[in-house]
Amino acid sequence: MHGDGKPSVPRVEVPRGKPLPGEWLWTTRAGSEQDVVDEFTLGFGPDKAKVLGPALVRSRGAPTSREGGVDLTFARQGFRIVAEPAGTLDAMARVAARALAPQLAGDAPWTLSAWVPDADGSNPLGPLAEALEARTVALLDEDDAMRARRVPLAALPRSGALLAQLALAGPERSFAGLVRSEDALSLAPGGRARMRVGGERPSRAARKVEEALAWLGMAPGAGETCVDLGAAPGGWSWALLDRRAKVIAVDPAELRPDIARHRSMVHHKESAFQFVPEEPVDWLFCDMAWRPLEVAQLLAKWGRRRWTRLVVANLKLPMKTKAATVHDLVQVLAGGGWQQIRTRQLYHDRDEITLTAHL
Ligand SMILES: C[S@@+](CC[C@H](N)C(=O)[O-])C[C@H]1O[C@@H](n2cnc3c(N)ncnc32)[C@H](O)[C@@H]1O
Repeated sequence: MHGDGKPSVPRVEVPRGKPLPGEWLWTTRAGSEQDVVDEFTLGFGPDKAKVLGPALVRSRGAPTSREGGVDLTFARQGFRIVAEPAGTLDAMARVAARALAPQLAGDAPWTLSAWVPDADGSNPLGPLAEALEARTVALLDEDDAMRARRVPLAALPRSGALLAQLALAGPERSFAGLVRSEDALSLAPGGRARMRVGGERPSRAARKVEEALAWLGMAPGAGETCVDLGAAPGGWSWALLDRRAKVIAVDPAELRPDIARHRSMVHHKESAFQFVPEEPVDWLFCDMAWRPLEVAQLLAKWGRRRWTRLVVANLKLPMKTKAATVHDLVQVLAGGGWQQIRTRQLYHDRDEITLTAHL
């Protein structure tokens, strides 16, 4: 749901196999279910999606971005449902394998990833989901040709492959389905892309920027210059310095002394709204705790003045109705000339979203 237009009509090619209901299952951060429903309502009109339970949403069709891929801001993971296995673990595995096998026929590499919705009631089912995955994979592996094309999740190609999924919504209730790997919102099970960072870093902030860069698929290289707006105490700056980038940190607050002392670091103790770079920089990072529309206007100014080429921003969304705000933020960025604008509530984001864009 990006750019200046509405998303196109739901379009997801069925790899092959029996007719499908065309319904999708999505998982979110617990508490963000309605935000996903609101995204569907904004894009397609009412009654296209409904909350199924904590961290779960079901929809008719999947939205596509202007670039043609499946996209949602508030969903972490999703798939086209092909079966709703219920009952004992063995019964669920049999139904899932029978429904998935024809979908996975063909030449494409595939994998199966089972997960539980990230909510208090379902998180304890993690071990059962692992057992269900193992049992279903064993049944699918009985076909030699199928087994030969199975790859570990970590080795799944980002395009041209199939990501089969099992979501365990209750001890005896599950959803089975699949998504093309290029359409997968994430390759992490249930979209939980846990980032590990060194213990000495300001930790949650560091995880946020690491996950943002992994999602973007690129990162600053050695010698590139990055401006970091809202940099204190310095977790993001540290991640950039660690990549041997030069960092211009902008924040009225103090940086952690060891980060402030780094030889590739300059700290401007002023408001980001006043700061003007001496010359264009390679990257703009922004994690300012400030009103999101004003931050978006600032990022649009950076775009209009061509002060940078790439932006990675974390925007705070404390309001109840977040989807409409995201839509407005994207319009403001587009007005500044930013392109390929992507927004996602990543795993390490709370009441906030990550935004990336190119000039
Ligand atoms: C969530 S913290 C940033 C954490 C940082 N990214 C890190 O990794 O350590 C938000 C920061 O925004 C800063 N901030 C708020 N308003 C600002 C403004 N107008 N200009 C620059 N920084 C601002 C605050 O001082 C605060 O340090």
